[in-house]
Formats: sequence, structure tokens, C-alpha cells
Amino acid sequence: MSKTILIVDDEKMITATLSTLIKMVLKHSVLVFNDPAEALSSEYLLNKNVDLVISDFMMPGMNGLEFLRSVKEKSPESVAILLTGYADKENAIKSINEIGLYYYLEKPWDNTTLIKVIQNGLEKKELSETLKEKLDEVQESHREIERLYELLKKDYQQEVDSVKNLIITLANVIEAKDKYTDGHTRRVGMISRRLGQMMGLSTERLQHLEISGIIHDIGKVGVPEAILNKPGKLTDEEFEIMKKHSIVGETICRPLNSLQMCLDPIRHHHEKLNGTGYPDGLRGDALSMEARIIAVADIFDALYTKRPYRDKLPINKVKEILAEEVDKGALDKDVVTALFNLIDNGDIRHIIGD
Ligand SMILES: [Fe+2]
Repeated sequence: MSKTILIVDDEKMITATLSTLIKMVLKHSVLVFNDPAEALSSEYLLNKNVDLVISDFMMPGMNGLEFLRSVKEKSPESVAILLTGYADKENAIKSINEIGLYYYLEKPWDNTTLIKVIQNGLEKKELSETLKEKLDEVQESHREIERLYELLKKDYQQEVDSVKNLIITLANVIEAKDKYTDGHTRRVGMISRRLGQMMGLSTERLQHLEISGIIHDIGKVGVPEAILNKPGKLTDEEFEIMKKHSIVGETICRPLNSLQMCLDPIRHHHEKLNGTGYPDGLRGDALSMEARIIAVADIFDALYTKRPYRDKLPINKVKEILAEEVDKGALDKDVVTALFNLIDNGDIRHIIGD
């Protein structure tokens, strides 16, 4: 591609020679000036359309360094080459960094060297332009990635917030319907989370475990209040209806993407390790850690809370009952041991605000 080269020298003989040489060998466009001040007001330069400038050093009114410094201010991307006499060599060397001089050539120059220097200078300019374009592209895509990331973060936060609100609403629905469960679901959530920590669950599983604890009984919305709030023992028929709440809970939560990890603990929080639980009669390894934890937290909180028909049981009695459940093979021994640790070191009181 043809480039534009600007030549400045007060000697017309030199500008003519250089101009002819460059046009003939390199086929580039050449602009010639014998007065540096005039060259500085050239439209080509002002519009940054000059690719390379060759300037003499000794010129009346303005020396080559002053001239090239002004060129760099107007068109920083232009490649600057200085032609100097031997005596000016020192100045030329100093100005390499100072004004970003690309090269200096001593007079009289060698044509082959001059052509090579011009070619290399133009190539360097092209490379740095390509590099700048690539850098701009990279920065642009980086900005785009950041923008998308911010959007995603916002979406995710909105999703988390709306799920949180939904869970609180669901928990309120159960509490409004079942007067025994005042604060129960919230406490089961907190105790489960703590037990999960002690059992070494990941942060993600802990988060879902706590949510599962809060909404594990959501299926009770499908159980008549007369059964839910019956002070005495349920008949077999009533118990069959009550048992449906774990399946109903799973069905309610299934359409919600964010609650997929809660489906198993909701459905199986009444399963027993020895297979005597409901709704599926799961046994041993078939029970997830989450379901085992919620089962323990649920039973503990039910026993350790005042009910209309009985007082809150003393903590030792609660421990005794839980230990019996472990002996029967119903509850997970490790989970119950973890709960006993929380009871013995007093942490449980902080968790449930007792
Ligand atoms: Fe339940």
C-alpha cells in the first residue's frame, strides 16, 4: 500500500534527490518542503496522514530536532528520521528517546541504507498499528465480558433474592396453618445447617440444606387443619393423610429450578435408616446426608419445644429419646453425636435462641 513520506531540507538539491529516490524505489507519495515552519502547517501532517518524516538537522529558523518534536506533537504515530552532519551526531543520539526519533543518518547517506531504514520504519509503524488494533479489540471484549458478568451477577442476585422471599413466604404459609410449628421450620433450618457443617458438607450443599430445613414441611398445606392441629394421637386414617405431606412438599417445589437440590430432603425427611420411615421406606445408604440431618433436627426441635398438650421436654430426656432412635437403627448415629456435641457445649442454645 502506498504511504506518504514528508521530506524537509532547506537545500532543494537534497529534497529533489531524496524525493526521486523514494518515488522510484519505494513508489510512495512524497511531500517536499524546504522550510520546516511551512511543513508544520501541512494539511497532511495536521490530519495525521503522514507515515514517515525525513528531516535535515541544520536548517534556518528551526533545527531538525525542534521540527521533529513539533511533528511528534501533531502526529505522534509518524516515524521520524533525522539527517545529520557528523558534528551533530551527539544531539541526534540524545534525541532518540527524547522525541522518539526512529533513526538518524549521517550525511552523506548511503542510498541502500536509507531505503532499508525507511522500509523498516514503515513496517514498524504498521506493526504497532496492528498491535494497537488488536489491543483495542482485546480491551473491547474485556469490557464486554465485564458487562455480561455484571449482568449475570445482577440476574443471579435477583434470582437469589426472589427465591429467598419465596421460601420465607412458603415457611409463613406452613406456620400460619400449623400452630405447633411456630418458629420450628426456621430452627430446623439453622440446626441442619450447623449439623451439615459438622458433617463436612460443601457450602453449596449447606445453603440448600438450610433452605430444605425451612421448607421441609411445606407439604402440610395439603393436610386439613383439623388433623394438623389435633392435640391428641392421630387415628390410622388421619396419619395416612398426614404422611402425604412429604410427597406434596416435593411436588410443590419441583417446578422451581433453584429448589432442585431440596427435593430429596423434603421428600425423605421422615425416612428411617432401618426402612421403617415414609413415604418410600428407604434404607441405609439410600438416605442422603441431608435427609438424615433434617430428620434429626426435626425430631430434636419437636421434642425440645412446648406443645399445647405437653411441656418442652428436659434436654436429658430429649437426648435419651434420640439415643434410643439411634439404637433402633432409625436415626444416623454420627449426626446425633454431632447434635449431642452442640447440646453439651451449649452451642445449640445460641442456634435456636433458647
Ligand atoms: Fe415433616
